[in-house]
Amino acid sequence: MKNKPTLPGAGLDWPLMQNNITREDLDAAIAYLRREDPILTQSSNVRAFEREWSAWIGTKYSVFVNSGSSANLLTLAALKALHGGGEVIVPPLTWVSDIAAVLHCGFDPVFVDIDPRTLGMDNDQVLAKITPRTRAVFLTHILGYNALGQRLLDELERRQIPLLEDVCESHGATWGGSKLGTFGLISNFSFYYAHHLSTIEGGMVCTDDEEIYETVRMLRAHGLVRELDSQSRKEKYWQSYPDLNPEFVFVYPAYNVRSTEINAVLGRSQLKRLDENIQIRTENLHLFLNNLDADAYQTDFATEGSSNYALTLILKHPDPDLCKRVMTCLKAHGVEYRRGTSGGGNQLRQPYLRRLLGPDECLKYPRVDHVHFYGFYIGNYPTLERSKILRLCELLNELAKDYCRRVA
Ligand SMILES: Cc1ncc(COP(=O)(O)O)c(C=O)c1O
Repeated sequence: MKNKPTLPGAGLDWPLMQNNITREDLDAAIAYLRREDPILTQSSNVRAFEREWSAWIGTKYSVFVNSGSSANLLTLAALKALHGGGEVIVPPLTWVSDIAAVLHCGFDPVFVDIDPRTLGMDNDQVLAKITPRTRAVFLTHILGYNALGQRLLDELERRQIPLLEDVCESHGATWGGSKLGTFGLISNFSFYYAHHLSTIEGGMVCTDDEEIYETVRMLRAHGLVRELDSQSRKEKYWQSYPDLNPEFVFVYPAYNVRSTEINAVLGRSQLKRLDENIQIRTENLHLFLNNLDADAYQTDFATEGSSNYALTLILKHPDPDLCKRVMTCLKAHGVEYRRGTSGGGNQLRQPYLRRLLGPDECLKYPRVDHVHFYGFYIGNYPTLERSKILRLCELLNELAKDYCRRVA
């Protein structure tokens, strides 16, 4: 066969992630620092990164913050400020900060199990859990897979329930031709080391809604009126509080989760090659899933429009012995992995939720529990060699064959 890659030897030397920040990005930061008296705190580069990100993702507004967790927190804080309290439907398979933000803002979390193909919330179960107290549905697009369906979107619109999208693990993934993060009232992104684009630490809150945008701008910086974009909004506050110094009007008891110019310079530099990197990562995922033994490992993920920074490896059947063998094999071949996919699996098994909801709540979500005990993720980055992916599939398929022989 033409161009058949040569398979590497035993040590695959395959880390969970390779730095997204390249020499080119560092040089952009250094060039910025070499300027005469450069501004380092949030300024014009943050603004420019927000504008460029909005254009890339397809929303009217973006607000750059210091992490994806801060994006989660401001999203729920804005929801609370503008829509009041109640229940928020969240998945047990997500990052801790999604649920923490719900709790910190005084909402009651309501959980539903996942759809194994998308790893996102089962849309029918979401609809079944909606009550008059539902204030929002806060879904997570896990590891590049779209979690949205048309019926859910239609029903939420009909019932006027805001959709919040956590896209921290799925930059550039699309559904029906539009990027994830453009369907909800608010969407969140993370620019942590592990993700598609890294600003060292960083996150983005995106929306088309001007009031949400302005509220998030204030929440990002102490609740200050001077953070507003709109002059008329500022003046309204100033007129309402004539006894206050206009520079110091605090509308909310808020936070300081601003980022810096350096982080924005790094983000702007990487954004130029984000599409190209996403395409390579997507090809890697397809190569991996197409070559895995579909009897032993799950391969039927909802890959249409996916954008994946980590390869999902989930055993098809609950099989502790094969699971152990997989881990031994990955370790022996120098393949770094994490168990349970996003956030380590079933959040309801974590101490902070066990304390709140009791030790048995986690048992009500068997599909998440399957991922918790039999799911892994492995690094997927633009420089990952195709030959390594094929070699790993060979090794994993060998294990599965061995295992089938033994149990037959
Ligand atoms: C789904 C999801 N949401 C939120 C976050 C939080 O992002 P950060 O690490 O930038 O705080 C992560 C982090 O990895 C995540 O995977």
